[in-house]
Amino acid sequence: RQGRAAQRPLAGKKVIVTAGGTVERLDPVRYITNDSSGKMGFAIAKAALDLGAEVTIVAGRTDVSPPLHREGLSLVRVESAQDMYEAVNTLWADTDILVKAAAVADYRPKQAADRKIKKSGDSMTLELVKNIDILETLGRSKRSQFLIGFAAETDHLEEHAMDKLRRKNCDLIIANDVTAEGAGFGTDTNIVHVYDANGQVETIPQASKEEIGLRIMELAAARLTGESK
Ligand code: CTP
Ligand code: CA
Repeated sequence: RQGRAAQRPLAGKKVIVTAGGTVERLDPVRYITNDSSGKMGFAIAKAALDLGAEVTIVAGRTDVSPPLHREGLSLVRVESAQDMYEAVNTLWADTDILVKAAAVADYRPKQAADRKIKKSGDSMTLELVKNIDILETLGRSKRSQFLIGFAAETDHLEEHAMDKLRRKNCDLIIANDVTAEGAGFGTDTNIVHVYDANGQVETIPQASKEEIGLRIMELAAARLTGESK
């Protein structure tokens, strides 16, 4: 593994990895968010650094700490999906690989109150409005960038993953069945299925998120540099 990483196939490449869950405010003390520990995204960022890339992590709320600062690594903290979009979009034109490991909230509260909402009455209805789809939006303006999306599913894994890959113009999609043991949110291991436009590329059997991160970035490096793997 050291030997593989020592080849630094991503030297000179700029990689953005989004990680964690976005936070959509309701008021100054409340928000809605998505499950995402940040582990998979951070592992991918470390793998990209090990392979020689210059890496920017754009992270929402995470349960674990980001990788320690090292040469070639920048960290941008964001809150909402809109903030995440703006942070990524700023870097987009000058990016070689974007990995969208973040769990982006599909909706946000229609209004974010600037003061704490006081309770009143026996029920409360929350109106939500759709957030921008970051991956789909950037996928549409993709030029030479290599786009890697994620799909966490409970059923019909391949069908949903392939639909997302096409809809968001991804080069690869990393799908996992969140109901499988040893996979998904908060776990140290994962089991993922990788697809490209032609279908299944490979299944990475249960492995640490570090191992999986390295495999994903090796696949991206091989495809970006035209070497088939
Ligand atoms: N994604 C994004 N912006 C959003 C929603 C999702 O960039 N507003 C990205 C995620 O980071 C992930 C991929 O799209 O890489 C798939 O996310 P997912 O939630 O599985 O897809 P959705 O299109 O939101 O579909 P679903 O109805 O299954 O939630
Ligand atoms: Ca979603």
